[in-house]
Amino acid sequence: MLDLTRIRAETPATARRAYLHNAGAALTPAPIVKAMKDYLDLEAEIGGYAAAAQEAQQLDGVYASVARLLNAAPDEIALVENATVAWQMAFYGLALTFKPGDRILTAEAEYGANYVAFLQIMRRSGIIIDVVPSGPNGLLDVGALEGMIDGRVKLIAITWVPTNGGLTNPAAAIGRVARAHGIPYLLDGCQAVGQMAVDVEALGCDMFSATGRKFLRGPRGSGFLYMRRALMQKLEPPMIDHFAAEWVARDRYELRPDARRFENWENNYAARLGLGLAVDYALAIGLDVIEARCRQLAARLRDGLSALQHVTLRDLGPNPSAIVSFTHERVAAADIVKQAAARNINIGASDPASTRIDAERRKLPMLVRASPHYYNSEDDVDRLLALCAELA
Ligand SMILES: Cc1ncc(COP(=O)(O)O)c(C=O)c1O
Repeated sequence: MLDLTRIRAETPATARRAYLHNAGAALTPAPIVKAMKDYLDLEAEIGGYAAAAQEAQQLDGVYASVARLLNAAPDEIALVENATVAWQMAFYGLALTFKPGDRILTAEAEYGANYVAFLQIMRRSGIIIDVVPSGPNGLLDVGALEGMIDGRVKLIAITWVPTNGGLTNPAAAIGRVARAHGIPYLLDGCQAVGQMAVDVEALGCDMFSATGRKFLRGPRGSGFLYMRRALMQKLEPPMIDHFAAEWVARDRYELRPDARRFENWENNYAARLGLGLAVDYALAIGLDVIEARCRQLAARLRDGLSALQHVTLRDLGPNPSAIVSFTHERVAAADIVKQAAARNINIGASDPASTRIDAERRKLPMLVRASPHYYNSEDDVDRLLALCAELA
């Protein structure tokens, strides 16, 4: 059972605002904020190196926490500064092996940061980017994916839950195809982690990238990469320092044996600590409980919005996630965000350029993006619905 009273008390801003911007950056629980402040105070008192040494056990435990969250092993986890760096480390590492004519298969709702990286490697190495079409229900068409595979496909890179709406791509079915053909599978789980259960074994992905600040409720500037051990040992990181690889002789280095080969030496330890605590916080509540509550609140919001005149819901697919996207035929998204802010309702907007292929296909303008989390109340959702009902 979700102890909403305690959870909201530990998220004091919920008393002052309807915070529905969790796909942007969620509110971090107060005990975690305090732990990070305490860590900064410790650094101020004894210095950063001594603080890290004193808290080494807890800092090391962050790998185990993230591993538990994903059903992975701690040595398969790299802690980095955001989801983009995590994804880049995996993608650009693999890209070192690409040859002209190699193909990447991706999804229509692929995130912009990933797609521009595909374009760069296309320009640099002559690879081909092939976008797997979506089926009539909006999900990536797994049959079409299967049909597109040949010996030149060197990577399947998919965004599980896109930034611009509730679509939840069939990540595990994609994983089965990737496994059957022995193709590396990079899953962008940035918007999924923290709002639903993640099991990299069940998903069948070889690489999984995510951020701390969104549905996980961790601090900004935190993220992680999971890489399956067997793949990692074959893959050179695109960039290394003397933490990722020991300088063992004048003309030789040896890569670390674990996923920390994708990290470098210097880090924000307070943020890292906060990330670990945020993962533990989510695990203590239970991802199944979190997911059920997120879906329930998102369904309430979608039901309410779909009853309103002039409002069009823009989410794709069955059983959508807690990212609710919509437009109003008379009021621009940015205006709605502003009017909401004036009433202490926090929501965001999603730019077509962040998912250009999907946005062009569906002729999407800027979307309003409202993303409830388990700590929201029904009243938070209803406050946004009341605002939308009053729009011109
Ligand atoms: C689907 C998806 N992938 C990746 C990212 C990038 O995450 P970060 O900003 O932590 O690098 C985002 C950010 O919104 C996202 O929505």
